[in-house]
Amino acid sequence: MQLRKARASEIDTIYEMGFDAWGSGLFYEEYLSLCRQSKKYQSGIWYVLIDKETLVSSAIVYRDGFGLKTGCFGIGSLSTPPKHRQKGYASKLVTLLKDELFEQQSCQALYLHSDINHQFYTKLGFKRILDTDCLLYSKNEQPLPTAPPSYF
Ligand SMILES: CC(C)(COP(=O)(O)OP(=O)(O)OC[C@H]1O[C@@H](n2cnc3c(N)ncnc32)[C@H](O)[C@@H]1OP(=O)(O)O)[C@@H](O)C(=O)NCCC(=O)NCCS
Repeated sequence: MQLRKARASEIDTIYEMGFDAWGSGLFYEEYLSLCRQSKKYQSGIWYVLIDKETLVSSAIVYRDGFGLKTGCFGIGSLSTPPKHRQKGYASKLVTLLKDELFEQQSCQALYLHSDINHQFYTKLGFKRILDTDCLLYSKNEQPLPTAPPSYF
């Protein structure tokens, strides 16, 4: 399996992966149009997990904005196409993304806002910040921050 940055030609396929979770009653074309116009999505970098030449999971990485301090990154919009779920792909993507950001991009702290049961992320080493839905992965043993970054 391989993690890499998404190509421009793959972005619509990535949006489709999260349609059941974030489509909120929209027709697919309306949802796609909103995704394509999203300033938030345009401010991040999409990564994909590839298995046997198929895109099997994706997530976006933010580096600036949202109150993220220098050296801090955020990941969001983690999704796996419905037909590929429960095969370990999203967990693998997060694990490889952590390696990439901490080892190649001098990341010191990685945040995310969880829309799902936190256990999915705590199993991967993230720690919950207070009673929020924001979780942090850091290699330093520093105390958890009291103020999480804003939602991304
Ligand atoms: C959440 C999601 C990314 C998991 O993808 P996946 O490739 O199936 O994940 P994995 O196979 O690595 O892991 C499956 C685990 O995720 C858990 N999971 C899936 N959906 C979940 C949900 N809504 N709440 C809590 N846990 C969930 C499964 O229970 C399973 O746990 P287990 O390993 O203890 O059995 C996928 O279900 C998805 O795309 N959902 C829609 C988008 C979404 O909600 N993303 C999360 C944003 S925070």
